[in-house]
Amino acid sequence: MTTLIKSINDIKNVLAKSDRSVGLVPTMGALHAGHISLIKACRNDCKTAIAYIFVNPLQFGPNEDFKKYPRHLENDFKVCEEHEIDFVFAPDEKEIYPENINCETITPPPDLANILCGKTRANHFSGVATVIKRFLNIIQPDYVYFGEKDLQQLYIIRWLTKEFKISTFVRACPIIRESNGLACSSRNVYLTEEEKEIASNLYKSLGLAKKNIRSGIFTIKKAILESLIFLSQFPKIKMEYFEARDKENLDDVDDTKTKGFYFLLAAKIGSVRLIDNIEL
Ligand code: PAF
Repeated sequence: MTTLIKSINDIKNVLAKSDRSVGLVPTMGALHAGHISLIKACRNDCKTAIAYIFVNPLQFGPNEDFKKYPRHLENDFKVCEEHEIDFVFAPDEKEIYPENINCETITPPPDLANILCGKTRANHFSGVATVIKRFLNIIQPDYVYFGEKDLQQLYIIRWLTKEFKISTFVRACPIIRESNGLACSSRNVYLTEEEKEIASNLYKSLGLAKKNIRSGIFTIKKAILESLIFLSQFPKIKMEYFEARDKENLDDVDDTKTKGFYFLLAAKIGSVRLIDNIEL
């Protein structure tokens, strides 16, 4: 049975009586196949499985989609019920930010937070780190689940748990894709069918870069250039970045490296911002 819980007191009370291990799946709702894979991993690993649903105002920029972000609690609850989550924790903003959203925030290190998406989304990762620290503090889970699509977020969360000596283990789950290769994202609902087809070329461009590195004749810069040339056929895709970053710490990588790194990209189709990555 799945129980909906709205207050910190109630979730703490039920957790005091729940079996360990406890697993937490953080979400902003609008659950899709990517979230379901996290929910399944959590359900499989842990005696008590919790999903939280909270659209975190702190991680949205002033011109981003906080107000129109899809909110479907009833439907999300059903998804959690179907996958046998024990508790859906869906607190109000006041529960999480009692001092309001001008609260003190956590500042992740610039070499992680100001690169890639951080270049255009100022304060985004500070907002993510702040909300995750609050939820980890409330729930104190043994495991917390994140998807590899939001790869930079995953590295920030790993930094967060280390920095604040939080004993929760961070579990990373692989990217789930739609049948055409497009990475699952809550923002895909904003795309038309035609735009989804165009967006699927982002994953193709990552696959192409990987193939070109594997061929042994392309350096990283040349492989990126080839992928950008491929993407330039689709004028609706506005690239924000296409970069290679070290697997260890998301640092820059030597141009001749052939493994141990990721290609990561961000692009806009209309006003919808999409990200994706591939590992080498
Ligand atoms: O990835 C997300 O949906 C959000 O950034 C998260 C981790 C739930 C924090 O608000």
